[in-house]
Amino acid sequence: MLNIAFPKGRLGERVRKLFADAGYIFPGLENPERKLIFNNDLNNMRCFRVKPFDVPVYVERGAADIGVAGRDVLLERNPDVYELMDLNTGLCKMAVAALNNFHDNPEKVLRVATEFPEIAKNYYASLGRDIDIICLRGSVEIAPVLGLSDVIVDIVETGSTLKANNLKVISVISELSARLIANKSAYKFKNDLINQIMKGLNTNS
Ligand code: PRP
Repeated sequence: MLNIAFPKGRLGERVRKLFADAGYIFPGLENPERKLIFNNDLNNMRCFRVKPFDVPVYVERGAADIGVAGRDVLLERNPDVYELMDLNTGLCKMAVAALNNFHDNPEKVLRVATEFPEIAKNYYASLGRDIDIICLRGSVEIAPVLGLSDVIVDIVETGSTLKANNLKVISVISELSARLIANKSAYKFKNDLINQIMKGLNTNS
């Protein structure tokens, strides 16, 4: 039995399609409602839907043999797993954004609102800039609007959330996409099956 951790949400639906196109169908997954675990008896696989941030935890600890995680989550959590392939889906950027009329004062500590404190810390450490991190769990874009922060570090896909809140990208930290990851010992012991899955996944889309 191969256990696979899929992310819930936007990325999850793209990943479901990618696996379905490769011939790996998990009946019911297209309309999961509250169900979290789905079996594919034909291929002796089981997938489960977890919060995107939790995928590396399941994989690192071996509750999942493989999983799909955004590069954002991997950069933030730095899990001890193998990153097997770029699935070339869920393409977006990790960026610093601020109000359209923002003027930086490099002498001042920069207040940074984010769901990604490690990414923000590493980025500003590389610039030698002192920051004050404000950790939020979503809707980060309103932080500069309300004066809670000077900038945000967040995911930008279409840019429409930034635009709707009078914000603009001031620098790009990293390009992001979904990655197939594997537990280190599962990769060794279930290598044939994992390689077969990798060959089947069409990552050109
Ligand atoms: C993500 C991200 C941005 C938005 C970017 O949020 O945090 O807010 O998508 O997408 P866009 O550039 O296409 O507008 P998500 O919708 O996942 O919800 P969240 O605010 O709760 O993180």
